[in-house]
Amino acid sequence: MARVKSWSVALVLIVCMSLSYLGNAADDSGLGASFIFGDSLVDAGNNNYLPTLSKANIPPNGIDFKASGGKPTGRYTNGRTIGDIVGEELGVPNYAIPYLSPNATGKAILYGVNYASGGGGIMNATGRIFVNRLGLDIQIDYYNITRKQFDKLLGPSKAKDYISKRSIFSVTIGANDFLNNYLLPVLSIGARISESPDAFIEDMISHLRNQLTRLYQLDARKFVIGNVGPIGCIPYQKTINQLNQNECVDLANKLAMQYNGRLKSLLTELNAKLPGSTFVYANVYDLVMELITNYDKYGFVTASKACCGNGGQFAGIIPCGPTSTMCQDRDKHVFWDPYHPSEAANLIIARQLLYGTTKYISPMNLKQLRNL
Ligand SMILES: *[C@@H]1O[C@H](CO)[C@@H](O)[C@H](O)[C@H]1NC(C)=O
Ligand SMILES: *[C@@H]1O[C@H](CO)[C@@H](O)[C@H](O)[C@H]1NC(C)=O
Ligand SMILES: *[C@@H]1O[C@H](CO)[C@@H](O)[C@H](O)[C@H]1NC(C)=O
Repeated sequence: MARVKSWSVALVLIVCMSLSYLGNAADDSGLGASFIFGDSLVDAGNNNYLPTLSKANIPPNGIDFKASGGKPTGRYTNGRTIGDIVGEELGVPNYAIPYLSPNATGKAILYGVNYASGGGGIMNATGRIFVNRLGLDIQIDYYNITRKQFDKLLGPSKAKDYISKRSIFSVTIGANDFLNNYLLPVLSIGARISESPDAFIEDMISHLRNQLTRLYQLDARKFVIGNVGPIGCIPYQKTINQLNQNECVDLANKLAMQYNGRLKSLLTELNAKLPGSTFVYANVYDLVMELITNYDKYGFVTASKACCGNGGQFAGIIPCGPTSTMCQDRDKHVFWDPYHPSEAANLIIARQLLYGTTKYISPMNLKQLRNL
């Protein structure tokens, strides 16, 4: 009897402790929630729940992801994404949960929700080659649903405070609008004839202006928006264009840089136009270019060859899967697969965004954004 009693006391204690722990998520002064929007660079498993050709829940993806014991989770890398690392460093106790996961209910969403989807883009048509993916319009429709759940969980006034003051909204998107839309052979020829690069990029920016404004209307205030990386230098592009080790595809990089210039002005415009908002520009392009150019300085042995993949000189054609060859020294490759950085590269990128100077993150870094 005494035994039973002490067990139930212990149980009650454990229940109370975990309740107060969850309660703390809404009380602390640290970062409350991390809301993650974007593409495969930050997808943490949404595509596992979609009938799509873009999947990463197959080994050896995730082989270095500690939280799953090395099992694939749907992340398109060997370990943590930039979104995972940033959340950890800012003090969120759990990774933002994928919106489509059956576990994304109740208090689990208080640490944040991840809406990112491999193949997704700013434009609705982007990534249709994969049959299914969540574009940014739909990701924001889903956040609108989450927003109402926060009112139920915390009460409307506390929810509004928690979201506007204690949460960060990150948006990592745009690469697929070029790689899997505008630049896609065959499918995009029509678009490229009828729309100049200038017109296509203006179209992207006007969509993004609308999308970010919708997030603002739903109480987002602290934003970090990633620019498009040097997509002409990824192993996939280098392989299909049969480039040498130190070359990159000029057109792809030019389009990315032109878009990035327009994105920077858009964020300046929104900072001025939307009261109380802070839009931070993450210069992923220059950061990744620095890693590619000076890879040996950062302890990498290659920035051209994918660690996991097959085909051509840079293992850049067939995506990473069980039949791929995989390198031994995973933390010595800038690229994990034909498209995505390794966890080692993600760590360097994330630390610059968190603690770095305006060269890579402006007008402030993410630590400062959190503490606003
Ligand atoms: C969902 O939660 C259950 C029980 O906590 C856990 O075993 C499972 O791994 C979780 N699934 C995902 C996809 O996170
Ligand atoms: C985007 O595509 C989805 C289907 O994938 C559709 O339901 C939605 O209406 C489209 N949005 C726009 C703005 O065209
Ligand atoms: C959010 O959803 C409601 C319907 O539930 C709709 O009226 C509103 O326009 C949506 N807000 C945004 C910003 O999409």
